[in-house]
Amino acid sequence: MARVQLIAGNWKMNLDRAAAVALAKAVVEQAASVSGVELAVCPPFVYLDCVGKVVAGSAVALGAQNMYHQPNGAYTGEVSASMLCDLGCKYVILGHSERRHILGETDQQINKKVHAALAAGLSPIVCVGETLEEREAGRTLAVIREQFEGSLAGLSAEQMQKVVIAYEPVWAIGTGKVATPQQAQEVHGELRKLLAERYNHQLAEAVRIQYGGSVKPENAAELLQQPDIDGALVGGASLKADQFMGIVAGAKF
Ligand code: 13P
Repeated sequence: MARVQLIAGNWKMNLDRAAAVALAKAVVEQAASVSGVELAVCPPFVYLDCVGKVVAGSAVALGAQNMYHQPNGAYTGEVSASMLCDLGCKYVILGHSERRHILGETDQQINKKVHAALAAGLSPIVCVGETLEEREAGRTLAVIREQFEGSLAGLSAEQMQKVVIAYEPVWAIGTGKVATPQQAQEVHGELRKLLAERYNHQLAEAVRIQYGGSVKPENAAELLQQPDIDGALVGGASLKADQFMGIVAGAKF
């Protein structure tokens, strides 16, 4: 079964309401002529509602950048999975490296969020990736395995099929230093091997694994043509509709 590539824009903590709506409109407009690729935009929580209204009924899906694992209650400042569903979200990014490294999220916390997201009907985009120090110490695959095992613990095969994994080497995020297609492919291949070991070959072939980290229109095609790269999680370049759509143009389908 061929995997449909997913190109998702992680807008991070950027834009204001007017700019978010304008960007969503431009992406929706340009996406109308795209087929065979899935698109998503992930605005900050406070713009999910207005951006959701723009993308509703279009080829562009809505995603959030985080959530809390509890369904409701006294958790000041947090947002639940059902609240995201209420706003029309299909995806939620979990365990992004900025949340792991700046906000101190652990694999255990991320795992709770993954389970809660799936229980609510969301598809989690679960991020893994090594730091530069870890890569230079030759620990890349060990770190990926540890994050895979921790963040994705306890999932049935049926649940795993709804998960998207995003490989985002920390040293490539926002730095302009993109992983080479070979470096990315090696880790994507390893992740697929881990899936096959834990589940089976068929499931491993069905799960989508995105690459993220300084993806731009100029380097997208080469990355997206790799056999185990099934899309991109795009930061900076997703803030400009033309650049985002330039990346989409590099997708294979
Ligand atoms: P950049 O594309 O800005 O490097 O960010 C990647 C990222 O973190 C996407 O989640």
